[in-house]
Amino acid sequence: MKYASLEELEQQISSCTRCPLHKTATQKVIRKGSNNPAILFIGEAPGKNEDATGVPFCGRAGKMLDNIIEYMGLDDDKWAVINTIKCRPPNNRTPNKKELKECRPFLEMQIELLDPKLIVLLGNTAEAAFVGRGKLEWGKCREISGKKVLKLYHPAALMYTRSRIADQHQFIAENRKLWEKYSKRR
Ligand code: URA
Repeated sequence: MKYASLEELEQQISSCTRCPLHKTATQKVIRKGSNNPAILFIGEAPGKNEDATGVPFCGRAGKMLDNIIEYMGLDDDKWAVINTIKCRPPNNRTPNKKELKECRPFLEMQIELLDPKLIVLLGNTAEAAFVGRGKLEWGKCREISGKKVLKLYHPAALMYTRSRIADQHQFIAENRKLWEKYSKRR
């Protein structure tokens, strides 16, 4: 699958019927943020608020992600956020292997066309979709297919285990040079 532009890709995603999730989802949830991001965050799947609005990370987890982005000191044109799959799974369950596989070409094309310098995988499902489960260590930056890739906690995991907020804040503070380096690029 090749798309000439991000716009064309996003139109194709909007009309996708490849897996049964499109039947229960209100709409596709595709991207929030820049169309030319230096840093790309990848979450899990749309939840109830995202399904209702079509905007990724617009609920409680989104507020937490906003805090992370603010704490990193990123301007609005430097980042974007997408999900591993574009339709809300019923009852917000974790996407299964088949769903991840069906949606993976869209994930790959989004990454190719957005072309970020740094990819931040938010939690285990993003890791599973991108490299395979258990392949990355939290907070360790690796180079994969020419991109720097970093795994951090999913914002919802921070909400449920508050002690992780301090860990993640400390990590972000200690790695200021990384955020500055990648966000200066464009
Ligand atoms: N959690 C996610 O992983 N993605 C969203 O868009 C919202 C919550």
